[in-house]
Amino acid sequence: MTDQTRGYLITLEGGEGAGKTTAATLIRGWLEAKGREVVMTREPGGTPLAERIRAVLLDPEVKGMSPTTELLLMFAARSENLDRLIRPALTQGHDVVCDRFTDASRAYQGAGRELGLARVDLLAEVVHSDLSPDLTLLLDVPVNLGMERVGQRGDTLNRFELAEQAFFERVRQGYLDQAAKEPERFCVINAAQNLEAVQKDILAALEDRLAGLM
Ligand code: TYD
Repeated sequence: MTDQTRGYLITLEGGEGAGKTTAATLIRGWLEAKGREVVMTREPGGTPLAERIRAVLLDPEVKGMSPTTELLLMFAARSENLDRLIRPALTQGHDVVCDRFTDASRAYQGAGRELGLARVDLLAEVVHSDLSPDLTLLLDVPVNLGMERVGQRGDTLNRFELAEQAFFERVRQGYLDQAAKEPERFCVINAAQNLEAVQKDILAALEDRLAGLM
């Protein structure tokens, strides 16, 4: 970090049923205990317009969306979230915890939909060449276990959750490949453990990666 006054951008990633929502609350509590102001957001979404784009992206009634359209809508929503919420918050010195960000596009559209990383990176360059997360926690869980947890929620499956197993295996591998490429930004958490153990690992990661910066 060169700009000491800017807040930190912390992103949460992982497959379906990895437990990102609980993790986000834990991270917020840790940051607030350090006296930081925290803004929470999610992608796709985070602003009124981006949430409307999210509704289209997740709607199981929307059939046959082309992978490129899906990728562009993800980045349209991201651009809104960055301009209206994320950048202003960081500039004010607030930390932002974002439930999914561009690594989700790399994993789901790049690897899962097999569009390749080059196209995703091109859009990342257009939409946020100025910014990349300071820390990314990847909650890694085997596909079967994640889907079992999603099934237990009892909610209607969204458009992504209806995909076949092979798609989710590519997503998981896409995330792990990205983490291996950027070990200084990523921290991989074994989210197959029980909740207590996962939370302990998340707190240890925050202490290790962020405590020294605050
Ligand atoms: P999310 O709200 O995290 O759903 P869940 O809590 O069920 O994991 O994300 C919604 C879906 O959008 C999820 O299936 C992953 C997908 N997604 C992408 O495919 N690409 C992206 O860039 C983002 C941000 C999300």
